[in-house]
Amino acid sequence: MLSMAGKVAFVTGAGSVGNGWGNGKAAAVLLARQGADVFGVDINDEALAATKQAFHDEGLAHWGGRRCDVTDSASVRDAVEECVARYGRIDVLVNNVGGSAPGDPVTMSEDTWRTQIDINLTSAFLGCKHVLPIMERQFEAGGRGGAIINVSSIGCMTFQVDGRVSSAYAASKAGVLAFSRSTAIAYIKKGIRVNTVVPGVMHTPLVEYRLTSQLGAASAEELIARRHASVPMGRMGDAWDVAHAILFLASDEARYITATELVVDGGMTAARPAS
Ligand SMILES: NC(=O)c1ccc[n+]([C@@H]2O[C@H](COP(=O)([O-])OP(=O)(O)OC[C@H]3O[C@@H](n4cnc5c(N)ncnc54)[C@H](O)[C@@H]3O)[C@@H](O)[C@H]2O)c1
Repeated sequence: MLSMAGKVAFVTGAGSVGNGWGNGKAAAVLLARQGADVFGVDINDEALAATKQAFHDEGLAHWGGRRCDVTDSASVRDAVEECVARYGRIDVLVNNVGGSAPGDPVTMSEDTWRTQIDINLTSAFLGCKHVLPIMERQFEAGGRGGAIINVSSIGCMTFQVDGRVSSAYAASKAGVLAFSRSTAIAYIKKGIRVNTVVPGVMHTPLVEYRLTSQLGAASAEELIARRHASVPMGRMGDAWDVAHAILFLASDEARYITATELVVDGGMTAARPAS
């Protein structure tokens, strides 16, 4: 079940903002545990080195990677070329890079708006732009095409009353859903599946490293308690919950699944307060 043996996975944002497990780092390790050769890219060399170390610690001999800015087309092209030079193919693309900045249309600068669109949406576009031709060639040569998993957020589906506003994050992550569906149908006859994983409120190092200050919480502990309490299941998910969804959509067991979303949110988007 869920074997990745003989497959090559290209994972963006394969590091993590702090110690511990971000979604891309967990996905990279999990895909390798299942037998994939992984090529991880990240803009942060230290974060990438920590993921390489995690592979080493687990005795996973499936690591390759390099520094890459996924908002820069030439940088993505070069990383994809290096991955193909090393492994000969790409079977799985995980477009995981993203992050939120606060602000509504009045309080957010135009620069922040554009940067948010770049990091959350253009990043997925560029990953697909450079990897789809490779998957298509693999399919035309009589082999398998590939599976693409984009990472969105429930931050584009439900919105807090009197809470944090992240207009550009919401818009760009909603864009990821439509972009994924549209690309899936464009490539449906070419052996390539495209799906989206939609995480909810997760406990990744992002909470301690960025959100505590961004959300003006008294402490990380206070914010963590608040985030746990906000989820119908009573607790946040973690990076492994996201990674398992990515693994499933990447696997042959998901061969009939394309142009859709897998929401990993502990019931959050379906719930509403009792009245
Ligand atoms: N953590 C959550 O609660 C949560 C919830 C919903 C969705 N998500 C989504 O999951 C994804 C990963 O989140 P995370 O919490 O693991 O984040 P993270 O910040 O820990 O990891 C993201 C990685 O991307 C790298 N990165 C940033 N900009 C880059 C660039 N331009 N090029 C290449 N690499 C770059 C960072 O260095 C970091 O290592 C994001 O798309 C995020 O929006 C997270």
